[in-house]
Parts: sequence; C-alpha cells; structure tokens
Amino acid sequence: MEDQAVELSLRPRYLSEYIGQNQVKENLKVYIEAAKMRNEALDHVLLYGPPGLGKTTLANIIANELGVNLRTTSGPAIERPGDLAALLTNLQEGDVLFIDEIHRLHRTVEEVMYPAMEDSALDIMIGKGPSARSVRLDLPPFTLIGATTRAGLLSAPLRDRFGVVSRLEFYGVEELAFIVARNADTLNVEIFGDAAEEIALRARGTPRIANRLLKRVRDFAQVRGDGIITPEIASEALTRLQVDPRGLDSIDHKMLKAMIQNFRGGPVGLDTIAATIGEESQTIEDVYEPYLLQSGFIQRTPRGRVVTAQAYSHLGLPMPENGK
Ligand code: ADE
Repeated sequence: MEDQAVELSLRPRYLSEYIGQNQVKENLKVYIEAAKMRNEALDHVLLYGPPGLGKTTLANIIANELGVNLRTTSGPAIERPGDLAALLTNLQEGDVLFIDEIHRLHRTVEEVMYPAMEDSALDIMIGKGPSARSVRLDLPPFTLIGATTRAGLLSAPLRDRFGVVSRLEFYGVEELAFIVARNADTLNVEIFGDAAEEIALRARGTPRIANRLLKRVRDFAQVRGDGIITPEIASEALTRLQVDPRGLDSIDHKMLKAMIQNFRGGPVGLDTIAATIGEESQTIEDVYEPYLLQSGFIQRTPRGRVVTAQAYSHLGLPMPENGK
C-alpha cells in the first residue's frame, strides 16, 4: 500500500474505534443519535485544539456515523463568497461541510456563512449601487464542522453560531500506547508493549506524532534489526530522531535554551522568543507552546513566558542564583 493509503487506514472510521477524548466522544454520540432519531441535520460543530489530535479524523467519523457525505475544504481555500456558495449549493440534505483552519476564512466569505449556518439560506446580492438588492436562496439543511487550533482565533459572531463546541485535549500515555500498538498491527509489524509505551511517552500527547514516530521506528527495526520493534530499537531510533525522553524535539530545546540563556528564564514575550530562534510566533503559540505549557516546562504570565525549574533540570542547566 502507498504511504498515504496506509496513513488513511490508520485513522479510525467510527466512534467505537476512536481512542481517547472520552467526553467529546460521549457527547457527540448523543448528539449524532438524537439528530438521526429526529431525521435532522446535526447542529454545527466547532472542534478546537492543538494540531494532530484528531479534528479531521473526528469530522470524517461524524459524517460516517450520520451516514452522509463529507465535503472537506479549508478556510484560506475559500477565496470569494461565490466559492462558498458553490460548495453550499452542492450539498445534499444533512451533508457535512468540513472547514479546516476556519479561523482563516475571509471576512466577506464569513458574512455569507452566517445566514447559511443560522437559516440554511444564501443571501445573494444582485446588481450594484442603489438598485442592488439581495435575493435569498434556500439551502438544504447541512452541518458545518469547523476546526481550528484556538477557539479564540474565531470572530465572536462565527463562534456563537456553532451549537456544539468541543475542545480536544492531549492524549494520555496509555491511550497513545494503545493507538501505537493497534496501528503497528495495521502496519503488520510486531511491537513489544514496552516499545509502544516508549513511543507514546515521546509523542507529546499527539497521535499524529505517535504514528509518525512508529513509522520511523519501524524503518530502524527493519534495517537494523529483524523487523520487530523492541524497546531497545525504539529507544535508539527515537534518540536518533532527536526526540528526547519527554518528547521534546530540537525546536523545543532551542526555545527553552534561548529563554534561559538570552533572557535569564524570562519573563519574555512570545514575539521576542520567535525572533530569537527564527520561528513564526503563531507556530510557536499553536504547535510548540501548548505541550510545553501542559507538561510544565514553561508558564504564561502577564509579563511573558517563564521557564520553570523543571525545564532547567530537564536540560541539565543550573538555575540562576538568588531567584532571577
Ligand atoms: N489514530 C489516530 N488517532 C486515533 C485515535 N484517536 N483513536 C484511534 N486511532 C487513532
């Protein structure tokens, strides 16, 4: 199978196969069943949380469980109101429209979305100037699923139009180890329980990272060993991938070290950190910072980010004398 096809097959297709996010899953199960019983479209769903936690996977599962079609697009891909109109008028009753990175919708497009979400209607402007008028076109009832890294990035009017707002959390090590073991099975590779746990420990709470690490560890097992993923092979491969025992990669290290060595551990502003290590502020805030915050390596204060004692000890660096 091609890599992409395997990638797809690693994704669960039904809620019963989806590991973790228990609260989100249990609630969705109820809303989906209720919508099906009433023969109505599911209310609009906003999924938010750090990348790689399964927002796209959940959107696919929701459409599957509802037994409807799924149309997938992303915020920046919808350039004009007409693009959105084309998407919406091609939906069948009850279908799901999934918009990834929904916080990047253009303003003019967003305004067309409001009546579509609220009244299943499309307001089309005809003509220009004083004789311009708006014509309303009815749409089949549909479900919008929006995904974003942070709910706060959405404008309030858009956010308020979602009936279901669910936040995805980082996965626990046990959940990730289970996902790794199951996906190893799908990839037809034998793996020790301790090796699955080793990968899970270093996957920073994120199934996408766990699956990526699994594939690379499998390469090492195949070439350097006899194809079986033992804890030793896993540990050696992960070290070579520059993923440390807590899952921090070279950019995390660079960020923590810059904060410690250039700014005495902070407080230091996000933009200053970004400029110092040559990364985008938004990437740091959406991709790197959430896990560093959650695992207690940094803290956010009103005056900026601060490195914790745990970060010093993890990096083997001495804490500054007399506090800061
Ligand atoms: N593969 C990736 N994410 C998963 C999840 N949440 N459950 C099961 N398999 C997965």
